[in-house]
Amino acid sequence: MNQDELKKAVAQAALDYIKPHLDDNSIIGVGTGSTANCFIDLLATIRNDFDGAVASSEATAERLKGHGIPVYDLNSSAPLDFYIDGADETNEHLELIKGGGGALTREKIVAEVSKTFICIADESKKVDILGDFPLPVEVVPMARSHVGREIVKLGGDPVYREGFTTDNGNVILDIHNMDLSRPIQVEERLNNVVGVVTNGLFARRPADVLLLGTSRGVQTITRDKS
Ligand code: A5P
Repeated sequence: MNQDELKKAVAQAALDYIKPHLDDNSIIGVGTGSTANCFIDLLATIRNDFDGAVASSEATAERLKGHGIPVYDLNSSAPLDFYIDGADETNEHLELIKGGGGALTREKIVAEVSKTFICIADESKKVDILGDFPLPVEVVPMARSHVGREIVKLGGDPVYREGFTTDNGNVILDIHNMDLSRPIQVEERLNNVVGVVTNGLFARRPADVLLLGTSRGVQTITRDKS
């Protein structure tokens, strides 16, 4: 299977995972990116089995609405039973790097208020240690230089994502060459830098279930919470 076929396979696996739990009142948290888009397109095929969705980005909201799926405000919908989203990298503990598409802050909020976070990814995303993929950080525009200097002090090389504005009106710094062998500590240290909205490490609240698309089929990996 090629990468697109793997994305469709994990999206189908996510649909199969949640479908038995849905009813007329169900509101599903939906992520952002090409793998999440595969899931959205499949969600449309069971449109009458649930109420609607909460979107982690404007792009996802538009795609959901395009399928006739109602999109609700998180404030009136949480807590959610399920959040389904892709990732840029995952390790064996289901700690993730996200935000390649720049939607990390809303993604992290929806993940936080969801009981079960299902990550869908093809096997190219599985790594031993996070950090080959540059770590996105959403920053209030006036703090860009300050945050960049603080990132350098923490050992990273920040690169300004030119010409990109997040759905929240902020900018992104992508951190290269940072030691992410202790993801929770790095996530918390970065979030303590004034001007940082959030960063793309999902370690404090990792995924609960990883549906990983491989050439041998979709593997279901459940996080050990003990
Ligand atoms: C969006 O901001 C990201 O977190 C995406 O979820 C992540 O980049 C995965 O995207 P793909 O499914 O397109 O690889």
